[in-house]
Amino acid sequence: MRQTVHGRRVAVTGAASGIGAATARKLIADGWRVACLDRNIDGARATAGDRGICVPIDVADEPSTVAAFAQVREAFGGLDALVTAAGVIETTPFLDTSVEQFRRLFDINVIGSFLSVREGAKQMQPGSRICMVASISSYTGGGYVATGSYATSKGAVLTMMKSCARALGDKGIAVNALAPGFIDTPFVASAMSDPVRRAQVVAAVGKVGTAEQIAECAAWLISPGADFVHGSTLIADGGVLMH
Ligand SMILES: NC(=O)c1ccc[n+]([C@@H]2O[C@H](COP(=O)([O-])OP(=O)(O)OC[C@H]3O[C@@H](n4cnc5c(N)ncnc54)[C@H](O)[C@@H]3O)[C@@H](O)[C@H]2O)c1
Repeated sequence: MRQTVHGRRVAVTGAASGIGAATARKLIADGWRVACLDRNIDGARATAGDRGICVPIDVADEPSTVAAFAQVREAFGGLDALVTAAGVIETTPFLDTSVEQFRRLFDINVIGSFLSVREGAKQMQPGSRICMVASISSYTGGGYVATGSYATSKGAVLTMMKSCARALGDKGIAVNALAPGFIDTPFVASAMSDPVRRAQVVAAVGKVGTAEQIAECAAWLISPGADFVHGSTLIADGGVLMH
């Protein structure tokens, strides 16, 4: 018999906006019990509505992340899935990039993913699933809008996904990554507000995706239907990489 997702418990980081918000909304609509985690608590509350819960978190901060996942455990009694979508972009050209900027990206995109998976996995049983949001810039090294420091941080997320898959696989927890291409969210809105830049990007990538399209992929990766998928990366980029 096919397993249902109804009543399963999931935490989504970055749930206030863009891909995380679209994912959380889809999961709520599909019948999941959803914890919307974000440092933007008003945004997380708006996503959660009256069917989910919202929890403040700064994923780059260890005490904040530990406390946020403790709050989720208190509310749900554990987790069946996690989507790590909190992240920041960096558009500063390579030669102008400061160590401070580079570290900020790593604190949020890399350490933030690590802490979220560590704390989420502690309250999971066998059969649970984790989806870590990376980026196709992990493969391209940047370009289009994001620059090298961002791409490097997402490359680290992909490598971390594999090590998490190795570490948690024995416990029956599946870990995969999702690598979106260019997606129209507030994340890239400032760069895309320039019509010339937008035209260049669209010419380079062919098309720009939506957060809802990526939410479909995240929802599948944490669904029972993906139960033989482990340690893999799903690229959703409209055909840019043909990887
Ligand atoms: N938009 C794209 O083109 C694209 C492409 C590939 C990958 N991604 C990745 O998808 C993820 C989501 O991006 P998006 O486009 O939805 O961006 P977004 O800016 O719309 O949403 C990101 C969310 O993360 C939250 N966040 C940022 N730092 C945080 C922190 N320290 N603690 C808690 N929450 C924090 C923000 O408040 C925001 O709600 C990111 O990891 C990004 O790298 C985006």
